[in-house]
Amino acid sequence: MLLNGSDARRIRSQARFEGEFELPGDKSITHRAIMLNAGAEGTATIAHALMGGDCLSTCQCMRALGAEIDIDGDTLCVHGTPRFRTGVNLNCGNSGTTMRLLTGFCAGKGIEAELFGDESLSARPMARVASPLSLLGADVRTTDGHAPVYVMPAPLHGAEVRLSVASAQVKSAVLLAGISAEGRTVVVEPQKARDHTERLLAAMGADIRTDGNRTEVGKSRLRAVDVCVPSDISSAAYFMALGALRGRTLCKNVGLNPTRTGILTAFDRLGVKYSVLNRRVSGGEETGDILVEKSPMQGIVLTAEDVPSMIDELPLVALLCAYADGESRISGAGELRVKESDRIRTVCELIAALGGICIETEDGFIIRGKKSLPGGDVDSYLDHRIAMTAAVGLTASEKGGNIRGAGCCAISFPGFFRMLEGAEKGAGEGA
Ligand code: S3P
Repeated sequence: MLLNGSDARRIRSQARFEGEFELPGDKSITHRAIMLNAGAEGTATIAHALMGGDCLSTCQCMRALGAEIDIDGDTLCVHGTPRFRTGVNLNCGNSGTTMRLLTGFCAGKGIEAELFGDESLSARPMARVASPLSLLGADVRTTDGHAPVYVMPAPLHGAEVRLSVASAQVKSAVLLAGISAEGRTVVVEPQKARDHTERLLAAMGADIRTDGNRTEVGKSRLRAVDVCVPSDISSAAYFMALGALRGRTLCKNVGLNPTRTGILTAFDRLGVKYSVLNRRVSGGEETGDILVEKSPMQGIVLTAEDVPSMIDELPLVALLCAYADGESRISGAGELRVKESDRIRTVCELIAALGGICIETEDGFIIRGKKSLPGGDVDSYLDHRIAMTAAVGLTASEKGGNIRGAGCCAISFPGFFRMLEGAEKGAGEGA
């Protein structure tokens, strides 16, 4: 998916926002279900897959490697691939997950590959995957620490890898290489990042053991497994936030993996009223319906240990702080600087453009809350999470405004604006 900044979108202010929402499938789980099943024995059906730009990049790369993937709406049929093509160029688009996980996957399968991406992805750090993979004997070269990334076939051996950043993408790259290495591979994380790879590997019969922040894998053959992907809590978060700011929203069948529910911790501290209904387990992942009601919010403090479980929701949490009573401090979030945009800077600019106060610190923000923000014209910086945070901020604002470069939402949430506008029907217009 090619991103450009020419598509602007007007967002109306809404005094009340209500509705029931069925969100698209989880991005992280969809990437993994495609990649791991393509490398397994058998055929798997992936239901409620996310068909956003990033997951389509994964599909395209796996097809370039020779995998057969049939797509019917949001249901994918992934055929295990007996022999992968080598000497391939893989276009990862805007997707860090595609590039980092595939680097480990190609190293594990002995595939020679060049992985490249768009301008934003080319600016993101890739030494963080090349270095740990080299401990297993992999031959992975970056371009001054960035993409293009080159993987050359090399025999792999198990190793103990201590990660310096809490990153599920890096952890997953090592695990995907580790299941093809001779001997055992151990990954130790500084803090627990999302564990979808570990759960799926276990479901596919891999030799894997997790104990807190330590995960150990041995050489494994994977069997294909069907996956029913829960809705993405990172996408639901925008509608949950609108419930907290402007009314009452119910997001259905949302993934509640405990490594992903930091937004609920943020809600607890902000004072947001919510309840989780119909808790159940589906395909090894917890899910439930989340009901959020309009709540007065107060400023909060978040520190490094809170960050991994809400890493993608932090721009939205910062926005909620801008609408809360009092000051908020978010620290230990330096990872935000190396996302699709420098999200510490772009969040500060977004909140300022809405008429709020957000001060940039080295690893986070200080936000002075105001109960009401005027709104105005804002930029997405071609970052999907900034665009959707902007849409929430403008909907809750006094006047609304325009988002420049709004189309990038389709990276993780195709149909986002349709869903937002659909909920407008019958809703009262803002001041
Ligand atoms: C992801 C992990 C996170 C997250 C990204 C998706 C994943 O990145 O920000 O949107 O699917 O593994 P890091 O692992 O780099 O923190």
